[in-house]
Amino acid sequence: MSALPLGSELPVVTDTFGRPLKSLRLSVTDRCNLRCKYCMPEEEYTWLPRETLLSFEEMSALTGFFTELGVDKVRLTGGEPLLRRNLPTLIRLLRQNPRIKDLALTTNGVLLAEQAQAFYDAGLHRVTVSLDTLRPDRFQALTRRDTFRQVIEGIEAVLRIGFKGLKLDTVAMRGYNDDELVDLIEYGKRVHAEVRFIEYMDVGGATDWSMDKVFSRDAILHTLSQRYGRIEPIIEESSAPAQRFLLPDGTTFGIIASTTTPFCATCDRSRLTADGLWYLCLYAKDGIDLRQPLRAGASQDEIKSRILAGWRARKDRGAEERKELEQFGVREKLIEVTKLREDPHLEMHARGG
Ligand code: GTP
Ligand code: 5AD
Ligand code: SF4
Repeated sequence: MSALPLGSELPVVTDTFGRPLKSLRLSVTDRCNLRCKYCMPEEEYTWLPRETLLSFEEMSALTGFFTELGVDKVRLTGGEPLLRRNLPTLIRLLRQNPRIKDLALTTNGVLLAEQAQAFYDAGLHRVTVSLDTLRPDRFQALTRRDTFRQVIEGIEAVLRIGFKGLKLDTVAMRGYNDDELVDLIEYGKRVHAEVRFIEYMDVGGATDWSMDKVFSRDAILHTLSQRYGRIEPIIEESSAPAQRFLLPDGTTFGIIASTTTPFCATCDRSRLTADGLWYLCLYAKDGIDLRQPLRAGASQDEIKSRILAGWRARKDRGAEERKELEQFGVREKLIEVTKLREDPHLEMHARGG
């Protein structure tokens, strides 16, 4: 199973439900410069020890094993990935891997204006910016930081530089920003970005989660149709989490309805934390350690076998299992804060939003 010559047929590696190994989310740091209500609502966090963090060379090497097993989509996430110094170096390293067809980045946008050109020059394909509100005061309330202006400047920089495929991700929360959906769509039109509304998810780290704060896909569609009229679903074959819709004026937007309508059946994503643990689901309690064998000098074949065995045994369908709890009336937050402190890998900000 040594390195495959480029152009040779890649194996289709599937899990127990026949889902292919396709998309890898690389968390480059667990640190963040915001404290979003739905992700990091606590005052104190336990961080991953610095000496355990993978170097860019290690990340790139591990990614190379994944791409030899079928991964062709890579997304850089965090925490906030722009807090990791010299990120363009990683982008360049990954762009040397011709099997990666799509290299994207998810960011909160705060440091984007100053770095976007370097990302573009390094060969990054796409950027997704989290944007939950257009009101500076509300931004501060939702993130506990006063950096709204910087996010908007970051989005403008992406536009100016000429990136294609900008997306804006909005976590829709009842009572927090559900009155801004139309404004966000209108803002998206101005900056040529597709807006995606994400249902508030009961992931690890969402310690304030409760069902009554979830603004559901149906509620989102209802709100938007009151302003725009008829909304058409776009029918497309895709493993992407977003369902896309069309407004009468031709604008498209997405909804990621993981909480009320899980899409585990087509999930081809997995996640590598900044310290090299591989998680097969957003909701998984345990990860597979790839740092240890890499640092112990295991051969390519050994590490690829570990990945192969992990994916073949994959049974995860975290969001569907969470949904099933509703029939017993026991759907509450996923993990208590004391447990999160014992194992920070359980946090959404450690395994990539
Ligand atoms: P593209 O369509 O390629 O742009 O990527 P994407 O749709 O995966 O978008 P992105 O990575 O920005 O993910 C958007 C949001 O979808 C994330 O922030 C999560 O909230 C949610 N999401 C992403 N991956 C998963 C997943 O594996 N499971 C669940 N339940 N939600 C996910
Ligand atoms: N629910 C939904 N999405 C979340 N994210 C983080 N926490 C949650 C949550 N509880 C995602 C959002 C955000 C990205 C960084 O992580 O999409 O934009
Ligand atoms: Fe917000 Fe992302 Fe930071 Fe979480 S990791 S607090 S979602 S910016």
